[in-house]
Amino acid sequence: MNTRNVLTTIFLLLILVSCKEKKKEQTVITETTMSDYYTEPYRPQFHFSPEEKWMNDPNGMVYHKGIYHLFYQYYPEDIVWGPMHWGHATSKDLVHWEHKPIALYPDEHGLIFSGSAVVDFANTSGFGTAENPPLVAIFTYHLMDGETTGRKDFQTQGIAYSLDNGDTWTKFEGNPVIGNDGMKDFRDPKVFWDNKNQQWVMSLVAGDHLQIWGSGDLREWSKLSEFGKDKGAHGGVWECPDLFPLKIEGSEEQKWVLLISINPGAPNGGSGTQYFIGDFDGEKFTTEQTENKWLDWGTDNYAGVIYNNEPNNDKIFIGWMSNWEYARDTPTSTWRSAMTVPRKLTLHKIGDDFNLFNYPVKNLESIIDKKNKKEIALVGGTSEVIPFDGLNQAEVKFHTSAENFQLKLSNNLDEAVLLTMFGAEQQFFLDRTNSGKVDFQEDFAGVQIMPVAQLPEGEYEVRLLIDNSSIEIFINEGQYVMTTQLFPNEEYSDITVVNLGDSEISLKDFQISEIERIW
Ligand code: FRU
Repeated sequence: MNTRNVLTTIFLLLILVSCKEKKKEQTVITETTMSDYYTEPYRPQFHFSPEEKWMNDPNGMVYHKGIYHLFYQYYPEDIVWGPMHWGHATSKDLVHWEHKPIALYPDEHGLIFSGSAVVDFANTSGFGTAENPPLVAIFTYHLMDGETTGRKDFQTQGIAYSLDNGDTWTKFEGNPVIGNDGMKDFRDPKVFWDNKNQQWVMSLVAGDHLQIWGSGDLREWSKLSEFGKDKGAHGGVWECPDLFPLKIEGSEEQKWVLLISINPGAPNGGSGTQYFIGDFDGEKFTTEQTENKWLDWGTDNYAGVIYNNEPNNDKIFIGWMSNWEYARDTPTSTWRSAMTVPRKLTLHKIGDDFNLFNYPVKNLESIIDKKNKKEIALVGGTSEVIPFDGLNQAEVKFHTSAENFQLKLSNNLDEAVLLTMFGAEQQFFLDRTNSGKVDFQEDFAGVQIMPVAQLPEGEYEVRLLIDNSSIEIFINEGQYVMTTQLFPNEEYSDITVVNLGDSEISLKDFQISEIERIW
């Protein structure tokens, strides 16, 4: 229970004690309900998950008046995908979340698929006033009837606005604002204000490529350009684009980053997020990149985009922690799936190559209860077991320059997830074959591989964030990242560090810390 819950409970008890005898029964109910809240098996304790039912992509991520809004693809009737709404939650610190009523419901134009939200400061849309600028949501309408009757034009783009900081929304009567002339997959608008060219810019995916659209008022749009038919990975359909500028760390030079989710076709199967580094001239996105690049090599980080209007102009990313291969089958009960922790994106130039790093936001430190550090030194071929109660809600962190080592997170049932750095091959492996429940879907078990060819010489950080049903691995502060779901039948309680090489290795500042629950 976090401090807020403890205080609330004490407060409730004080009120109830002073009430009449007949109210006593209610006290018990209140206490039980609060302590049971978010404690179902596999319920994430420091990640965002919906109170109940199905969730997929993050949507409409925008900061306004001190509040980070998180909307999300939501089906309020079941724990499998169904007619999409936009669920809504808010946060002041990107760590603790408050659930809000559903923001957008399907209507005669269709279900409400993924999209974004902007603060229309200059009231270009005319939906608000200069004093009270509207929040405008831009999303895809998906007309189910159109799809089932075999038409191809069933996805269009619509808008809605809010004048009360996201609490209530009004759909624009002129919807859809972008129609469809026969493009089966035509969705997921991400919009930002392009100050240099004084226009709204929308990135939108159309099957196997990106389209860029422009507008002066968010109501009327014209197509500016296309990108990507012959670039990047094409193992599946392109989804959830995001285009934004980012300074290269340690320089004043700026490049443009394009995120594209792809499903299937990710390096370890199913859904994944690729990125391109290039330039945008107000009309076209271009890149010299030839190699496919991935934001996260794990199987469970999809459809992620960044916050609009972030107060520090940081690029804060949140992804959906699942994979369409098995998203509908994971062994949870009242709700299904969670988001990644919010991560800051930074751009690094290594040699002539651009790399996009992603690393947990600093605020997360506020719930990590740092424990003593120690040094683990292991001669060739030996191992050390480090027991830790509550490992399913913990951070593990250390620095090393070791070439070959393994971390094994295991429980008393001999279930384990194996993380192996195999420097000789410049590869990192995550093996969840025997990690717990794996047979709910045939592709879930198995080994995931991440190439780590550009690790720095010398020491680098390894950081793991472990929650009840996930692990996020950040190597060298977000250069190499893997996010994966795990469903052990019992909490993992030991970490075994194994020296796989012949010479001595050391893991410096080794630290396991508890992470407070946020619910
Ligand atoms: C990505 C996605 C989007 C779509 C939404 C539907 O996971 O397929 O392309 O808008 O989910 O829920």
